[in-house]
Amino acid sequence: MAKDRNRHVCQACGAVFPKWQGRCDACGEWNTLQEEAPPPARGPGPAARAAGGRRVEFVGLQGQAAPPPRIPTGLAELDRVLGGGLVPASAVLVGGDPGIGKSTILLQAAARIATAGRRALYISGEEAVAQVRLRALRLGLEQAPLELAAATALRDIAASLEEEKDAALVVIDSIQTLWLDALDSAPGTVAQVRACAAELIRLAKTRGFALVLVGHVTKEGTLAGPRVLEHMVDATLYFEGDRGHQFRILRAVKNRFGATDEIGVFEMTEGGLVEVPNPSALFLAERRGNVAGSAVFAGIEGTRPVLVEVQALLAPSAGGSPRRQVVGWDTGRLAMLMAVLEARCGLTLGMNDVYLNIAGGLRIAEPAADLAVAAALVSAATDRPTDPETVYFGEVGLSGEIRQVAQAEARLREAQKLGFAGAVLPRRLARGGRAPVALEGLRLAEIGHIADLVAPFAAKTGRREKEREAAKAG
Ligand code: TYD
Ligand code: MG
Repeated sequence: MAKDRNRHVCQACGAVFPKWQGRCDACGEWNTLQEEAPPPARGPGPAARAAGGRRVEFVGLQGQAAPPPRIPTGLAELDRVLGGGLVPASAVLVGGDPGIGKSTILLQAAARIATAGRRALYISGEEAVAQVRLRALRLGLEQAPLELAAATALRDIAASLEEEKDAALVVIDSIQTLWLDALDSAPGTVAQVRACAAELIRLAKTRGFALVLVGHVTKEGTLAGPRVLEHMVDATLYFEGDRGHQFRILRAVKNRFGATDEIGVFEMTEGGLVEVPNPSALFLAERRGNVAGSAVFAGIEGTRPVLVEVQALLAPSAGGSPRRQVVGWDTGRLAMLMAVLEARCGLTLGMNDVYLNIAGGLRIAEPAADLAVAAALVSAATDRPTDPETVYFGEVGLSGEIRQVAQAEARLREAQKLGFAGAVLPRRLARGGRAPVALEGLRLAEIGHIADLVAPFAAKTGRREKEREAAKAG
């Protein structure tokens, strides 16, 4: 009979089903359902301590609340993403693919905090002490007074932390390796991950340390995704990037103490992760001017302007439906932009395979990138390079109009700082919104319609063809 009461829990999103099925109806993932014993009637931890329950006190909205104190990690890019450092008695989840560098960055941050004179504990459930020591040696951190332990039993960890008085930071690497013996399910399942995280977060709040949980993201569904923890923690940071690339981007997707969508940029080197204070210079470092199909986008990531190169390549389709391959941008947005170019400017890309890439491994979500993508596409289609000294930004509407985007001035300043000579941007607003001030040495081409972007390329092509014809005739 007990078998009937078992539930099937999606390891990606946590949805619960009475029966097994191949695909999760809630999140659409395949093969993520796993059988789990039902959770205990009472949650873990000393719940129901006060059976009586007291009256909740209500207060007004006004009142003094000092900004939360911060523990700087010593890694400026990490502090930026956290909103100024770790907050005592809070929980941060650091998610990312295996091998992306989560353990590395947390070891670096913990060692720096320990070196600065605070107590930092690093509990590894994945690697033995010797392995972590080896990494510390490789990173040149072996002298840091960091306290290291290898443990996976939550009961032991909780017993140790319950006594804690002065720890500033506790790192758990990773939450998926911990297990609570009160539960039947295996480590890494939604039930285990949730119960372990809840207990650790309770300890962080009562003992006052900053808790950092590492969570792997997996596609196979064998481990519960960090998504099931997002609502329990105060901040969620995702470590992105290609393992083949040396750039790593740390992105805040949730932050109760700071801005979301803030990014920190790192470079993975022999000596660990190194901060990149000027990402634009890095993202553009390998750019080759005068190549058709490339345009520089002046973007904003969080509070910081970032310039990146958008690359487009068109190739005749081998038949069947043409391919649309996108790295770092939204496939649906590309389809829309191509439809607008076709309907409003008569530019036909339909029969070609289209490849779009954001160079450097950055993922862009801003609609402001539309204009740069359009420029790259038009440049590829006409085989004419864009002006390598020009940046592009602006949102493209369905009727082909170029729409205003936020923070035009910050984008232009970044372009100017990096030595660009001009920008193609939305026409300044007649009323209301602030128009970008003219910046010294920057030519601004304000356009109102996508046709204004395409026209110069068409003109150049036309001129070139005329020249060719003239040469033939002559
Ligand atoms: P790691 O921090 O173990 O990843 P995660 O904890 O997210 O699984 O990083 C592993 C990768 O980083 C590994 O492939 C080797 C590389 N690496 C370096 O390139 N330089 C270094 O100094 C270190 C420590 C790791
Ligand atoms: Mg690791």
